[in-house]
This record gives sequence, structure tokens and C-alpha cells, in this order.
Amino acid sequence: MPTPQPIVVLDFGSQYTQLIARRIRELQVYAVIVPCTIPYDDLVRMKPQALVLSGGPSSVYDPAAPVCDERVLKLHLPVLGICYGLQWMSYKLGGKVEAAGRREYGFAELDILPSSRLLGGLPSPLKVWNSHGDHVVEVPPGFSITGRTQNAISVIENPSEQMYALEFHPEVHHTTMGREILERFVSTVAGIGPNWFPGSFIEHTVQSVREQVGEKHALCALSGGVDSAVAATLVGRALGDRLTCIFVDNGLLRKDEFARVSGKLREQGHLKVKAVDASERFLARLTGVTDPERKRKIIGEEFIRVFEAEARALGDIEFLVQGTLYPDVIESVSVKGPAATIKSHHNVGGLPPDLKFTLIEPLRELFKDEVRRVGRELGLDESLVGRQPFPGPGLAVRIVGEVTPDRLRMVREADAIVQHEVRACGLYDRLWQSFAVLLPVSSVGVMGDARTYASTIGIRAVESEDGMTADWAQIPAPILQRMATRIVNEVKGINRVVFDITSKPPGTIEWE
Ligand code: XMP
Repeated sequence: MPTPQPIVVLDFGSQYTQLIARRIRELQVYAVIVPCTIPYDDLVRMKPQALVLSGGPSSVYDPAAPVCDERVLKLHLPVLGICYGLQWMSYKLGGKVEAAGRREYGFAELDILPSSRLLGGLPSPLKVWNSHGDHVVEVPPGFSITGRTQNAISVIENPSEQMYALEFHPEVHHTTMGREILERFVSTVAGIGPNWFPGSFIEHTVQSVREQVGEKHALCALSGGVDSAVAATLVGRALGDRLTCIFVDNGLLRKDEFARVSGKLREQGHLKVKAVDASERFLARLTGVTDPERKRKIIGEEFIRVFEAEARALGDIEFLVQGTLYPDVIESVSVKGPAATIKSHHNVGGLPPDLKFTLIEPLRELFKDEVRRVGRELGLDESLVGRQPFPGPGLAVRIVGEVTPDRLRMVREADAIVQHEVRACGLYDRLWQSFAVLLPVSSVGVMGDARTYASTIGIRAVESEDGMTADWAQIPAPILQRMATRIVNEVKGINRVVFDITSKPPGTIEWE
């Protein structure tokens, strides 16, 4: 089955652009993101079924605002403008936009006219999420106003041209019935039914990997995470024995992780996994190192060395499988704006620069939740596909200060307790991440009748949609209490446990 014709999301730089595409894909409809600066002919070649114009940080009057070819509004396609998308559309089609002195940010009550083709029949007022500076004061010819908030014209539409626009953000989960609103645009207005399923994705990816690789061989580095596991399994389906996976134990993985994950990938993913225990060389190089960035660098370099040696020993291999996801692809082409900020330090475990591989990136069209769905469809179980993200540099960035075997033991044991308790109370799937951090702080305690002077563990648990922002999770006190008691009782060297109640921003998820 070929890739379906997409709904194209034109990115004007909003921090929420990715969410728009994700929400549409949750409706099982194929959506892709392109920068709004895409050449007109390239856009037409994509054969969009509908367009969504994203929000963005600029004002339409800003001379530096990203430039989109106006002809996109003349394609006779269903169009949904969101926030800046609404303003840009209104401005270009002859309406009037007023620069506001300050941004309106947060909740608003939306009053909907029953005559609205897009929103008619939804409860009114509706709680919606706003984040805009300018607003529309006069709608373009042919448009009518079908929704207002206290401060702004919030919904405009021109059904005969299939054009709709919203001042608020339906893609953000704070907007009540946001999913329903997007669904109405996709199915009622644009008439697009489900066309994007894990099964058909697997089928066409397996087919195209076979065509790309022919009779040659490929290599894949497993990290223990979801992405590389699914990428490898998918390519393994296409190539069988001609795919070799290398799983390097850097000594910084969670308790029992290495054996468990390699075993499962062999059994469930039917993969040829070469497990390499390199923990000693990683730990030797980390001795005495306390700077977080230095740790990351060392781990990245060491990984490349080990991987390189293994790859060379395997001989004639032309292709390398990588678990690159769609958000990385989008970030690399994004229009400048808040959405363009990414963390370069996350790419630990990159390619050996002088090994000349051709890349296979079977997941480069998928978001994380889609990767999980594909993984399940491929027969991988929840303990592989449902796992929380784990950073490439592993426990090294969860030990504040020097990484030593004894400090690794403490954080690993404490982490296993946190994992166990979070799973036991059924919270694991709701949390983006939950883990233990070893702090470089010793304090006085009393155990039995004796004074102790020992180390501190921090418990970190966050909820997040994508790791870019996060809220600390309100773990029930009895569960925290059980974790704390167990950690102090069971992990030698720990006499105090603290709970981190910092959100991101201003904190980050990891401590280093
Ligand atoms: P921060 O700590 O920046 O983390 O809020 C955001 C997400 O990224 C993960 N993370 C990393 N992943 N290599 C990785 O592969 C890294 O160096 C790294 N640092 C942070 C982190 O676990 C969280 O999910």
C-alpha cells in the first residue's frame, strides 16, 4: 500500500506545530509538517488533501515574519488556520489584523454560534487555550465570525471555500474537545477517512527496505530503548539474518537491563544480537570525571570506538539502521522560531565518522507513540515498547558528581526500587519518566541506635507529552513513603531520600 496523500501542516514556527500533526495522526490520518517557506511547486507535488496553517511567534506586520507563498490559499483545498495561521490567512485574504500590546495567554471561554459549520453543536461556552499577540478585527470578504472569546474574534469560516480558522489552539490538551474540533475539520470538512495504520506502515517499510538493501548486509546499534528496538525489528523483518544488531553494555544501564533486553529482542524481535560487554572500559574512562558534558562526551566517544571495532570485525556491511524519529527530522528543517530549539547533546552514540554506511531510518516518519504502536504490531511486548525513555549516557547523568562502581550500585539499586513501586501502583504508563538520582550530598541520620553519615537519593517523576516541557508528578504520599523506606533500608550507603518538585522549565528532567 503506498503512502497516503497527506494533510500538510505548514509550520510558521509554533511550539505546538508537532502536536497538530500528532493529533491528526491519532485520528489515523496521515499528516506531515513542512516549513511554511516550502517552495510552492514542492508543496503541490506532495498532493495534499488539506492544509493546516500553524501558529507562530511572529506578527503578520513583522518584516522578519517567515514567508509563505500566498498561492497556497488558492489551491481550493480545505484549510484550517490556527492562531498565527488565522491571522496570516485573514491578512492575506483582505481582512484586518490588529497588533496587540501584549500576548493573551491561557484559558478563555469561547462562545460558539450554532450556525458554525466547524463547531456548531459543540457545548458553548467552551474552555479553550489561547496564546496569541495580534488578533483579527475585520474578517476577509466571504468569511463570517462564528465564535468569540471575551477579547477576540476566535473562529472564522468560509464554508464555500472550505476555509476555517481558529484563534485558539485545538491541538493543546487544555482545550476542551480539541480533538473533536480537529476531527471535524479532518472528516466533516475535508472528508478524509482513516488512512494511516501501523500494519500498512510495516508492510510498505519492509518492502522499501528490501528494495533499498537488496542482497547486502545491515548493522544496527541497540540502545535498550524503544526506538532502536522497533527500528531493528522492522528491518529484521525485511532482511532476516542479513541484519546484525550490536548491543553495547556500557555499564551504565539499569539493573538487569542488558540481559533482559538482549534476550527479549532475540526471542520476540527474532534478531541476531551481538551483546558486547564493554562496561569496564567505559567506567575506566569516567574515573575522576564530574562535569556532565564531559561525561556525555566520553560515553559518546567510547561508544563509537567499541561499535567501530565490532563493525569492522563483521566485515562487509553497507547499511546502518538508525532509530531517527519524525521530531528530529522536523527540527532539522524547521522554520526559525521557538520550535527550532533542540538539544544537541542528546545525540550520544552517533555515527563513527569514517565508517561509510548508507543510512536506513525506517522510523523517520513516526512520532514516539506511533513507534510504540508499530512495535506492538510487530509482536514486541509492553516491557519493550511501553518503556519510559532512558538517556543514552544512562545512569552516568543520574549520578551527580563522579561515577564510581559503588555510586553506580547505589543509584541502580534505588532506581530499581522506584521502578518497582511505580509499576506496582499502576503509575508507570502515566509517567513520562520516573527514576532515582544520586546526589553528592551526605547528611546525618540515625539507624538502630547508631549515627549514620551517608548519601542522598532524589526521586524524580514527571508527566510530559514530549520531554520538551514537563510537570512533576504528584505521586501519592504513601507510595513515596514506601519508596523512601525501602531505599533507606535496602540500599547500603543511603540514609536520606528527597522528592524533586521542579517542573521543566525551569528545571530539566535529568539532573545533569
Ligand atoms: P532534559 O533533562 O533535557 O531531558 O529535560 C529531556 C529528555 O531527554 C532525555 N535526555 C537524553 N537522552 N541523551 C539521550 O539520549 C542525553 O544525553 C540525554 N539527556 C537527556 C531525558 O531522559 C528526557 O527524556
